[in-house]
Amino acid sequence: MSEGSFIKKELYAKVKLVELIKRINTRYRYKDIELWILGSKVEPWTSSIDLGRVEIDLKRTSHISELREILAIERSRGRKIALIPTMGYLHQGHLALVERAKQTGAFTVLSIFVNPLQFGPHEDYSSYPRDLERDAHLAEVAGVDVLFHPTSEEMYPWPMVTYVEVCQLDRVLCGAKRPGHFRGVATVVSKLFHIVQPDSAFFGQKDYQQYLIIQRMVRDLNLPIEVCPVPIVREQDGLALSSRNVFLTAEQRQEALILSQSLDEAEKILRAGERSARLLETHLREKISRGSQGMIDYVEIRDAQDLSEVINIERPVLVALAVRFGSTRLIDNKVLEVESLVENDDEI
Ligand code: PAJ
Repeated sequence: MSEGSFIKKELYAKVKLVELIKRINTRYRYKDIELWILGSKVEPWTSSIDLGRVEIDLKRTSHISELREILAIERSRGRKIALIPTMGYLHQGHLALVERAKQTGAFTVLSIFVNPLQFGPHEDYSSYPRDLERDAHLAEVAGVDVLFHPTSEEMYPWPMVTYVEVCQLDRVLCGAKRPGHFRGVATVVSKLFHIVQPDSAFFGQKDYQQYLIIQRMVRDLNLPIEVCPVPIVREQDGLALSSRNVFLTAEQRQEALILSQSLDEAEKILRAGERSARLLETHLREKISRGSQGMIDYVEIRDAQDLSEVINIERPVLVALAVRFGSTRLIDNKVLEVESLVENDDEI
């Protein structure tokens, strides 16, 4: 056996040990099991162990070429690949996407990349929360197979002149308020799709318009990817989880509950028989203005399938809200189906 393959085998055994310790720690929450290799302590969430001679990658990479190598091996073993694109600072909303992806039995790739292309010049790109080590730990515990966390230079090594634009759908709601945002999203997701070539990709309904745009991009461009929506994950009191929630003061956090409360109220009003989208919007605006100091960006009722304008609510609609609390802009939404509301009433 050559020295190289001996070292590889040795290291492989050590990696397995690290994984074992991680599992024990995760399962039983023991904090005092430690692994020491060649005199240095190895943290359970360490992604790579530098033994001076070889660096072992525990399937965490910032390089496109390395990711492709890992995925080629998995594909050759017959594994399907699932992609979960994120900008990190992970919370239970992101982890719900991971859980769904894992349920399919696919090899899961979680990407973390704060994409400069989707932030406007006066938006929060530089202050967007980031904590890669914490994210890596959460991802590992959740059972992610590969964490892909490219740098901006890796994703955009030269100035871009090619973009993906999903027209019409990007002209309303967040697209109207954040010009260029969805072009940035569609372009980076398209790049990630080409890099990973997943069989499926998971998106949260928290960003409903984003989900529709990606779904449409995949259809229009014949990409062989199943786009899977995942319902919004909320705190117990109703606040939709968001990486930006960390910016809220205690008072703003309390006021932000007006979003989910307004969505619940919209459902009640619809259930009571109101069908005018304009009246419902006006009612929600008043509720938000009266009940909080939040600055409304938009309150809109739109067709849930194509985001077109709605006058009379007859088909499934999206009730979409965007409100600023201080400098933090939060979005929330609910899809309401008149028929199911009426059916439920019949059942009662
Ligand atoms: P990010 O805001 O990190 O969200 C990543 C994914 O998590 C999105 O699909 C989003 O809808 C989902 N998500 C966030 N909060 C959620 C919640 N409370 N419940 C369910 N799902 C939730 O969206 C982006 O990043 C970026 O635009 C990206 C698609 C990664 C492109 O850069």
